[in-house]
Amino acid sequence: MDINVDGSSGYEVRFLPSDSTWDGIDRSGVVITDSNLHSIYRESISTERLVVIGAGEASKSPEVYLSVVDQVLSLGLKRNGVIWAFGGGVVGDLAGFVAATVHRGVDFVQVPTSLLAMVDSSVGGKVGIDLRHGKNLLGAFHNPKEVRLSIDLLKTLPPEHFTNGMAEVIKYGWIWDVELLDNLKSERLSIESTDLQEVVARCISIKRDVVEADFEEKSGARAILNFGHTVGHALETLDGYSNLLHGEAIAIGMVAEAAIAYRAGISEIDPFDVAEIFDLYDLPVRPKSEIELSRLIELMTGDKKNIGDGLSLSLVTVPGECKLCHGVEPDMVQSVLADLWT
Ligand SMILES: NC(=O)c1ccc[n+]([C@@H]2O[C@H](COP(=O)([O-])OP(=O)(O)OC[C@H]3O[C@@H](n4cnc5c(N)ncnc54)[C@H](O)[C@@H]3O)[C@@H](O)[C@H]2O)c1
Ligand SMILES: [Zn+2]
Repeated sequence: MDINVDGSSGYEVRFLPSDSTWDGIDRSGVVITDSNLHSIYRESISTERLVVIGAGEASKSPEVYLSVVDQVLSLGLKRNGVIWAFGGGVVGDLAGFVAATVHRGVDFVQVPTSLLAMVDSSVGGKVGIDLRHGKNLLGAFHNPKEVRLSIDLLKTLPPEHFTNGMAEVIKYGWIWDVELLDNLKSERLSIESTDLQEVVARCISIKRDVVEADFEEKSGARAILNFGHTVGHALETLDGYSNLLHGEAIAIGMVAEAAIAYRAGISEIDPFDVAEIFDLYDLPVRPKSEIELSRLIELMTGDKKNIGDGLSLSLVTVPGECKLCHGVEPDMVQSVLADLWT
């Protein structure tokens, strides 16, 4: 099946036909990938203009960024050259930031290889790296020239990273698409599912619709993508980005934020119904160890998205709809989380 995802944002999202060997790279560009992908897809992406970074979040650092800039320039990347980001969200964010900045911006193509990168990070135009002050603090908005996908690439993705991406897929159901949510509940989506490509295409199309309404995150429309993320990001910070995967943190966050919306009286969705679907996908619905709640609330209070007094949270009001709510009482949030997690 060949599906293209429409959108007016000026770049194409294209699925390559299913094939056992992957060969979607234009050899005239510079390819950036990580060490894991390089060891698996060495032949498919073989080119003289290749930059391999270490796998993992640690590569989204200023040091690796400068080293990659140095390497792409040494490989002769010109103003009209193209960077190919072959990898998960780490490669996409880093290579995209290199593309946004080198020669004041060159074209880049995203070839997302993880489920999370397919449904989330490869679309939306946010690229960047982490600083010692926090994650994604140095970045840009730089859309790719094209997103080129092949579902077959997911066959080599470690299962925990498939599960990780599923948290974002389920999020799209809650915030936007109740039919998608119902389908995900009635049959567990897996790497073997015949409709996997269709689901990925649906998620991309939702993300494009949301982002196009608020590309630079100014009107607040894009904020609905943050459902589960205010609690989730605070949990990741407390964890020091060591044990919890992002998808796990936001699964816990979505259940928690559903409970907050319920207590605030803006939703009638039972948080246990929200938890049910994450159980089905083996995602956690509560923290694995005890959480210092006051510290968590402190982190949430420091979130840059807060406006005025209280917390700003993107909360699902009915399945398929989400709203950015301001002025949510931190004390109420702490009491909800205490009830939910103890
Ligand atoms: N720009 C955005 O809008 C946006 C949105 C969400 C997340 N992100 C960023 O994305 C990053 C997380 O992305 P991720 O979860 O893809 O992590 P990742 O890039 O680290 O990939 C996860 C792991 O899977 C491996 N891998 C990826 N694809 C594979 C494949 N096909 N076969 C075998 N192994 C494979 C990688 O080597 C890595 O070890 C974070 O840095 C996050 O900040 C960005
Ligand atoms: Zn996320």
